[in-house]
Amino acid sequence: MESQQENRQDFEPFIVAFVCNWCTYTAADLAGTSRLQIPKNVHLIRVMCTGMVDSQYIIKALLEGADGVLVSGCHPGDCHYINGNFKARRRMKLLQAMLATMGIEPQRLRLTWIGASDGIQFAKTMRELVEQVRQLGPNPGAARSVA
Ligand code: FES
Repeated sequence: MESQQENRQDFEPFIVAFVCNWCTYTAADLAGTSRLQIPKNVHLIRVMCTGMVDSQYIIKALLEGADGVLVSGCHPGDCHYINGNFKARRRMKLLQAMLATMGIEPQRLRLTWIGASDGIQFAKTMRELVEQVRQLGPNPGAARSVA
């Protein structure tokens, strides 16, 4: 039991983060220019809106090597495409239920709202997410074929 805990501490999860160009990506940029500490195991994919993050992108990421996926965009009411983030929220709920049936912990998928000026929040969320996924261990659904 103890060695399993130690193994988890050594485990470096690979996280794919789909981030909205208008909010979270800008926050990531701000976090970088502010020299905030951001885990290096988070791979950002910039999208124009969380509403365009298709379920297939998330499932593909989880099946091909990601240990966790984040979708992050504008706060409710701030979406540049009116309701893209609400569509994303509905999609994430369904996907989390579906992941459980695939044997993948729903906690591996997270949706957050991080505004453009929230560099500190961005860095904090990334650190928390990496730690949460580290505690879950390697994704049992990943084929580990992605380098
Ligand atoms: S434009 Fe940012 S979530 Fe829609």
